[in-house]
Amino acid sequence: MKKLNKIIPIFLLLIMTQFMTAQEHKAKVLVLFYSDNGGTYELAKEISKGIESKGNAQAIIKQVKTSSNPKLKDIPVATVDELSSYDGIAFGSPIYFGNISTGMSEFLSKTVSLWTNHSLEGMPATVFMSAGSGVGKELAIQSFWNSLAVHGMVLVSNGIRGVENIDKNTPQGNTVLGVTSLASVKNVERPSKSERYMARLQGENFAKIAFALKGTFSNKTTANGSVIEKSADINTVLKQKQIILPQVPKPAGNYQPYVRSGNLVFINQVALKDGKILNPGKLGAGISEEEVKEATKVTMLNVIAVLNEAVGGDLNRVKRCVQLTGIFNTKDDYTKHADLMNVASNLAVDVFGEKGKHARATFGASSIPVNSSVEIQAVFEVE
Ligand SMILES: Cc1cc2nc3c(=O)[nH]c(=O)nc-3n(C[C@H](O)[C@H](O)[C@H](O)COP(=O)(O)O)c2cc1C
Repeated sequence: MKKLNKIIPIFLLLIMTQFMTAQEHKAKVLVLFYSDNGGTYELAKEISKGIESKGNAQAIIKQVKTSSNPKLKDIPVATVDELSSYDGIAFGSPIYFGNISTGMSEFLSKTVSLWTNHSLEGMPATVFMSAGSGVGKELAIQSFWNSLAVHGMVLVSNGIRGVENIDKNTPQGNTVLGVTSLASVKNVERPSKSERYMARLQGENFAKIAFALKGTFSNKTTANGSVIEKSADINTVLKQKQIILPQVPKPAGNYQPYVRSGNLVFINQVALKDGKILNPGKLGAGISEEEVKEATKVTMLNVIAVLNEAVGGDLNRVKRCVQLTGIFNTKDDYTKHADLMNVASNLAVDVFGEKGKHARATFGASSIPVNSSVEIQAVFEVE
C-alpha cells in the first residue's frame, strides 16, 4: 500500500507533464467576439469546437468588453496587449449596416500601437458574423477584413467548403469569406444546424493554418503586456557583430556532435580551434584567467556552430537558449567560475538577444578531456 502511495503521485505527475507538453505544441487560437444578444457567441462556440477538433490547436474564447447579458457576463474580456501572444485570431461580430458592430469597432480602434509595432503581421485571422436577415453579409465580412489587412494579418476564407452538406431548403448564412448566421430568419432555430456545421468547418480549417504558421511570426507580448520588437535576423546579427562561426568540430569518440530530442538540442564542446585545443591546462597552474576566457569564447562559438548544423543552417529557428553549464579546469580553491562563464553567457545574448537568456550552472573540475581548460554543455529549444 505504501509503495502504491508513492507510485500514484509519480504517475499523475508524468501524465500532467505529458499533457502540458502537448498543450505547448498546439496552436493557441483566440476566438474574440462582440455580441449584443448572444448570436455571435453561439457561433464562437462552434468555431472553437472546430478549432479543437483535430487536436492541433487550443481555442480560448474571449469577448472585447464586459456585457450585462446573462449569457455573456461570465465570459473573460481580452486586452489589446494580449492579441500578439496568440498563433491566430478568429474574430466574431454582429453585422451593423453591412459593417462591423460598434463594440468590435471600438476595440479595434484601440489596437493602433499593435499596428505601428507590426505586432499582428503574418498572424492568421478569420471572421464570422451574426446577421439579422443577412442583408450585406459579405460586405460586412469584407469590411472587417479591411482592418485586419491593415494589420498585415493573413486572412483565411472559407471558399465553398462544406456547402454540399448544408440544408438548401432554408436560407443559410454561408459566405465564401466566413460563416454568418441569419438570426432573424426564424423558420429554424439559429444558428441553424447548417450554420453550426459551417462554423465548425471554418474553425477546423483555421486551426490547420494557425498550426502550420505557428512560430513564423515572432512578435509576442511580454509578461507585463508590453510588445517586444520583432527578433532580429540572426545572420544579420552575426555579420554586424563580426562573429564568424568555426567549422563544426568532429567527434573524438563514439558520440554525436549534438542530439535532438523533441524540440531540445543537446550539445557539449571543448576549446578546440583549428584542430587543437586553445590555451590548454589548469587555471592558476600555467594559464591565466584571460586565457581561459579566450578558450571559453572559442568553446561557445563551437557550441553555436554545432547548433547551426542542428537547425539546418538557419539559426532563426532557435527559440531559446535553455541552459548552459560551464566546467572549468581550476585549482581546488578557485571561486570565480561565474566571471569565466559570463563570456559564454554574453555571447549567447549577443547572438540571440532575449532568446539567448538562459539558466546556468558552473563548476570546477580537476581535469577536463584533451586538457581543455573549459567544457560547455548547452541545451537549446528549437522549432
Ligand atoms: C445598428 C444595427 C444594424 C444592423 N444592421 C444589419 C445589417 O446590415 N444586416 C443584417 O443582416 N443585420 C443587421 N442587424 C442585425 C444584427 O446583425 C443581428 O441582430 C445580429 O444577430 C446580432 O448579433 P448578436 O446576437 O451577437 O448580438 C443590425 C443590428 C443593429 C443593432
